[in-house]
Amino acid sequence: MSAEPHLTDVLITSRPLANYLDFFGLTSADLAGQRILDCPGGASSFTAEARALGADSIALDPTYGKAPTEFAGIGRDQIALSDDWFRSNPQLFLPAGRGDANISAIIAARHHALDLFLSDYENEPERYVAGQLPFLPFPDESFDLVLSSHLLFTYADRFDRDFHLAGILELLRVSAGEVRIYPLSDYLGITAPWFDDLIAELRHLAVGVTIAPVVFRVTRSWTTQLILKPQTL
Ligand SMILES: C[S@@+](CC[C@H](N)C(=O)[O-])C[C@H]1O[C@@H](n2cnc3c(N)ncnc32)[C@H](O)[C@@H]1O
Repeated sequence: MSAEPHLTDVLITSRPLANYLDFFGLTSADLAGQRILDCPGGASSFTAEARALGADSIALDPTYGKAPTEFAGIGRDQIALSDDWFRSNPQLFLPAGRGDANISAIIAARHHALDLFLSDYENEPERYVAGQLPFLPFPDESFDLVLSSHLLFTYADRFDRDFHLAGILELLRVSAGEVRIYPLSDYLGITAPWFDDLIAELRHLAVGVTIAPVVFRVTRSWTTQLILKPQTL
């Protein structure tokens, strides 16, 4: 076990749609017919799988634009880093995220998600938009639902409060419906000291804010998601 676990870089993870449904308390039926942005998409298969369920989904990430073959190598290397993270830091995980069998199942699901992502990334490149928060290359209210997992708050050790406020307001700008963000603490489970203040500022800006429990988890501390509704004033 690492004495002081630390992630040097922001990981480019490959999560399946099933994980997203758990994080955000959604069902497959919630996605059909919706314009959805996955920001950041990483090497996750949400966008591909959501389209197969009838959604009009798009992913954004600064890494898009690389050749699929290059992305395949990066994706596999990144899964190996995640595997090592799970095995080196069992104290961060619930039983579902610990032990050889559970970790191997999670890693197999990530490889499957990476394969789905790579195929879609190659065949439907217009669905994978290069860009980065806090500026998104989309007109106002382009989406009905905006999902953001494992960037905001997760890496609060390197992205400050101003970045988070600007990034969240930008996600709200491009959403005509909701913005959902998960998780709300960093990869070690530490909540940013400015978290409550940021939530208060969003409420002051007339953003509808709900902090909702997440039912299925493998991580000990990532217990809640943030559901935001665009400014009502
Ligand atoms: C841990 S992955 C999360 C991917 C996916 N949402 C998931 O849950 O598996 C974090 C992603 O954030 C991307 N990223 C880093 N800085 C960013 C920024 N300023 N704006 C948008 N995405 C960024 C990285 O390239 C990486 O793919």
